[in-house]
Amino acid sequence: MRQATVYIDSEALQYNLNRVKQLAPHSKIVSMVKANAYGHGVKDCLAALSATDAFGVACLEEALEIRQLGYTQPITLIEGVFSEDEMTQVIEQKLECVVHQNQQIEWLITHKERYNALGLKVWVKLNSGMNRLGFKATEIIEVIQRLKSHDFTCVLTMHFANADSDHPLNEQQKNQFLQVKQACEPILASCCNSAAIYKYPELHFDFVRPGIMLYGATPFADQNVHALDLKPVMSFEAEIIALNKIQANECVGYGSTFTATQPMNIAIVSIGYGDGYPRAYIKPNFVAINQQLVPMIGRVSMDMIAIDVTHIQAEIGTKVELWGKSRLVDDVAAANGTIGYELLCRLSQRPKRQVT
Ligand SMILES: Cc1ncc(COP(=O)(O)O)c(C=O)c1O
Repeated sequence: MRQATVYIDSEALQYNLNRVKQLAPHSKIVSMVKANAYGHGVKDCLAALSATDAFGVACLEEALEIRQLGYTQPITLIEGVFSEDEMTQVIEQKLECVVHQNQQIEWLITHKERYNALGLKVWVKLNSGMNRLGFKATEIIEVIQRLKSHDFTCVLTMHFANADSDHPLNEQQKNQFLQVKQACEPILASCCNSAAIYKYPELHFDFVRPGIMLYGATPFADQNVHALDLKPVMSFEAEIIALNKIQANECVGYGSTFTATQPMNIAIVSIGYGDGYPRAYIKPNFVAINQQLVPMIGRVSMDMIAIDVTHIQAEIGTKVELWGKSRLVDDVAAANGTIGYELLCRLSQRPKRQVT
């Protein structure tokens, strides 16, 4: 059988959740499990994340899936709802949703009596400069006053556009958030994703919202997971399926982009972009065999890649780590001009999945 397998390490997930607890001991943890738990498989991750306080998802469907699996923790819908009908379901199911535009507020107020929404927690989003979702600082205070007057419990929330770097917008976003928070006291607050959890301990407030750090990938371009004391949760593995000896001037793969300059041993591995392995290849890229990095050569095909095994012991059936504990997903991403988040989320259905 073709070997292409995604292994999920539940203990690593628990370890990383514990790291969040160490870093933000006074905040509740909203574990972000949107997009199928960043591609890790929401069902398996929920089981390993049982010690979290709440879950964060992008939309109602993702929240309902969690409820159907039997989990009763609070769930926040970070993009809010997309229709009036969805708002009634949010209220009925006692989900917590972000509101970021006036129509959502009207739906909330219209339906609160019918579904007994008294005290329902509502996350009110401040657009502090990212200009994606949210009310501007000039309008949000009135929105919050209105929701409070209807007995909703408000959580003031925002998202940093550059928490992973030292961009000047960070200070502006932070100051706006603090000013609005002060004007709306008493109010619950939440503004930290993974990068901000590390960077801004003074902004942890009531709820932190870790995503990528739970899965053991880095939110920062200049700090890897070892420096952050996180453990990679996913290992993506395949096998060597063929070995070839080639001579100088022979080429490998589609487009003949690689030409040997001397005799070499190459191995073909059962993985390709049809499994979700990236094809972009803008910088030299590697896989790992027995914890040793091994260079890739030529183009990534739909089902196969080629690697240079001239200097290592390799046989048909030898296991190859595409990413995991030895070859970090963030390094594969950097070699392909993207971020670990994207590679994790866009794996295809083809690799088998196994939880350890
Ligand atoms: C509103 C919000 N909060 C938290 C997160 C988690 O971010 P990260 O995965 O960088 O920790 C995201 C991710 O996209 C988000 O959109």
